[in-house]
Amino acid sequence: MTVETIKENDLVFLILDDRRRWILPVKPGETFHTHKGIIEFDDIIGKKFGTVVFSKPYETQGYKFYILKPLISDYVLHMIRKTQIIYPEDAGMVLLYSGIQPGSIVIEAGCGSGALTCILGNYIRPQGHIFSYDIREKSLRRTKKNIETARLQEFVSINYGNIITDELNHTDVDSVVLDIAEPWNAIQKAKLYLKQSGTILSFSPTIEQVKKTTFALREQNFIEINTYELIKRKIQVKRNATHPEVRMIGHTGYLTFGRKIIDRKNPYRERKPKTKEIISFNGMPLRS
Ligand SMILES: C[S@@+](CC[C@H](N)C(=O)[O-])C[C@H]1O[C@@H](n2cnc3c(N)ncnc32)[C@H](O)[C@@H]1O
Repeated sequence: MTVETIKENDLVFLILDDRRRWILPVKPGETFHTHKGIIEFDDIIGKKFGTVVFSKPYETQGYKFYILKPLISDYVLHMIRKTQIIYPEDAGMVLLYSGIQPGSIVIEAGCGSGALTCILGNYIRPQGHIFSYDIREKSLRRTKKNIETARLQEFVSINYGNIITDELNHTDVDSVVLDIAEPWNAIQKAKLYLKQSGTILSFSPTIEQVKKTTFALREQNFIEINTYELIKRKIQVKRNATHPEVRMIGHTGYLTFGRKIIDRKNPYRERKPKTKEIISFNGMPLRS
């Protein structure tokens, strides 16, 4: 693949060091002011991603800034986020274990700040679609803004909708993705929208939510119900001090997956002789 040239209004990932990094659209004629000098976007436009620029005035500042093409994981960590987001590592597991792929049709609730929405929208391109719902106007506005900045609006619809109570008018979707406070109350509705063999994923920060969701999934005859937790540790690499970084995010959430099945009674096993009857004698179970 050829290296892409940076065009007007493209998003770039501008990196000074580990802490000072920004994702910005490069607008012609405009500048970006940092306390390590000024970056002129005209110096960036026309260059290839993977280059460097120096801050102005060169004589007094002249700091080196790296210019990368932002990955979607860079984007979601730098976009506006006011709710707890799903982190890229958890989103990676969502994608793999839900089977969401280019072309998938997915329902998401709630969209929150749109971090997972961006990752899903980026992944299902170009033929798939994400139908994302939330009950808070602020979340809907924020997600719309973040989706537009990521240039994903063609692949994502963001609408008001309560996944627990509303009729959302979908059939045969590939996956339903939940990140809401009471996911167990949404399982019955989610099942209606899913295609047979479709996948459901619920992200929850607490074990209490996981238990209720698992029982609700069992109640609705979902199978392959499994819950996972991912713990990511970044490794600090130094000449004589290479070990996991001392500070880390210790907990993000639990990921509970399931598959929709249309269940049927088994006519063959039921014909077989039953196991020996259990007789209760004075409250004690005994085998006859
Ligand atoms: C933690 S945020 C989701 C964050 C999102 N996954 C992200 O990565 O940015 C939870 C969102 O669920 C929404 N929500 C809660 N109950 C809902 C429901 N019944 N239907 C739709 N959205 C709901 C809330 O308004 C909130 O914006």
